[in-house]
Amino acid sequence: MENIFPSRHPLVAHKLTYLRDRDTEPKKFRELVREIAALLAYEATADLATAPRHIETPLAPMTGEALAEKIGLVPILRAGLGMVEGTWELMPQAEVWHIGLYRDEKTLKPVEYYNKLPVEPTVSVCLILDPMLATGGSACATVNVLERWGVKKIKFVGIIGAPEGIARLHREHPHVPIHLAAIDDRLNERGYIIPGLGDAGDRQFGTG
Ligand code: URA
Repeated sequence: MENIFPSRHPLVAHKLTYLRDRDTEPKKFRELVREIAALLAYEATADLATAPRHIETPLAPMTGEALAEKIGLVPILRAGLGMVEGTWELMPQAEVWHIGLYRDEKTLKPVEYYNKLPVEPTVSVCLILDPMLATGGSACATVNVLERWGVKKIKFVGIIGAPEGIARLHREHPHVPIHLAAIDDRLNERGYIIPGLGDAGDRQFGTG
């Protein structure tokens, strides 16, 4: 499928294995989420536009390049929070806009509970951050929110995707590139990704 980018980077594969391990404790888990998010964000931003920028080095004037697009990081609460820090380190000028969605355990559908976006969009490209692309419900709902806000360029950055969630996000929003560390086998009857890593929120915040 076009527009789906599972990382091929060995560092991502290595870190993901430790992230999945049930014996990895929350402190290490958070560190790995941060690092994997940074590596994926690096890949996801490879096509950002730049504009010429005139500077002087200590030795000579020259024209370099600077980012021409205003970036918004949009973590989906709460599991997406852990992906902000590593990504933000790479692009400290980015704005961070939070979207709160929880998954109704019965219907498995996303329910929006937090959204403080101003009326006019303040950024031109958004990276949606959510470690688990499971049913695709939250991802699609967030893309809808951002499109309504007026953002033209939207990318999804997750850690593990299930075929079901990837297919849904791709079907509903084919123009949204999907960057992942891995694509897993399937969803179980409770909407968890198999083999996955369990509940990404609980594992980061020690609430499992
Ligand atoms: N959310 C999680 O945290 N884990 C899954 O496996 C699916 C959704």
